[in-house]
Amino acid sequence: MPPSLRPPQGSAWLGRRLEELPTPALAVAEGTARRNAERMLQRCRALGVRLRPHVKTHKTLVRMFDRLVGVRPTEPGALELARAVAQSAPRRVALVGVYAHCGDTYQCAGVPEVQAVARATAAALGRFVDMLRQAGVPCPEASMGSTPSCSHPVPEMGALTELHPGNYLFYDLQQLQLGSCAPQDVALRVLTRVLGHYPRRNQLLVDCGWAALSLHGQQQGQGPAGCAAVEGHPELRLVGLTQEHGLLEPVSGALDFDRFPVGSMLALIPFHACATAAMHPVYYVHDEGRVVALWHPVRGW
Ligand SMILES: Cc1ncc(COP(=O)(O)O)c(C=O)c1O
Repeated sequence: MPPSLRPPQGSAWLGRRLEELPTPALAVAEGTARRNAERMLQRCRALGVRLRPHVKTHKTLVRMFDRLVGVRPTEPGALELARAVAQSAPRRVALVGVYAHCGDTYQCAGVPEVQAVARATAAALGRFVDMLRQAGVPCPEASMGSTPSCSHPVPEMGALTELHPGNYLFYDLQQLQLGSCAPQDVALRVLTRVLGHYPRRNQLLVDCGWAALSLHGQQQGQGPAGCAAVEGHPELRLVGLTQEHGLLEPVSGALDFDRFPVGSMLALIPFHACATAAMHPVYYVHDEGRVVALWHPVRGW
């Protein structure tokens, strides 16, 4: 809900406080994102590998998903495929290297499990590269992605040539639950305003629905509560999401409506930053609550 009937357009928001923005709005804490970027760069330097960020919120040219596209290094056809790419049409297609997203880490229950998956993945990549070399197929690059594995890299990843994570710039609730980051590392929020009080239902209505949040997180078995946490209010949970609206209610007891006047702003920490960011035409980048830049994501595939 805009605070005024004729909100400023585009760059007129520069210099404004987050509290003035029309909601729902995607806010990115610049300092936090910079720190996350710097820390990932340092991890790569310490391992002696390059960092090639996966800019998925802005889309990339090629995306490959394990089990959807690609071949596992242990599959019988893997060597033949690499040989065919390397030898059949070298002018049009060049075998640059092998890559594993390491998406299995998203099913892990904590950092030790993430690291075990990362160790196994790095080893599998290494074995495949050796196999290719022995077969006379040059394979200069070996790369691995996934924010969980790259946030707590194991020494074995130093044998690769690059890391290719993406989410780490923003982090989110999912990464917090996996142990990839600390609460202060999450750079993204969806700002929303209280639209109404429902005393009989013990609920608040807010102007953030799934069109501003995405439904990612619902599948964790908690319903809408899995899609976002309310910053600074662990006593509240999201219990309903329509396209444009959300419903908040207390985890237990009666809601103190005086603490959440109509028009007041709340900040939601999304379950999956990449899914949420993809819902927004503009990111309001801020420094300590003041807008310093507007980022416009590239759309399309
Ligand atoms: C092929 C590929 N590589 C890397 C990434 C980045 O992974 P993460 O978001 O876990 O850092 C993705 C994310 O979707 C991906 O699809």
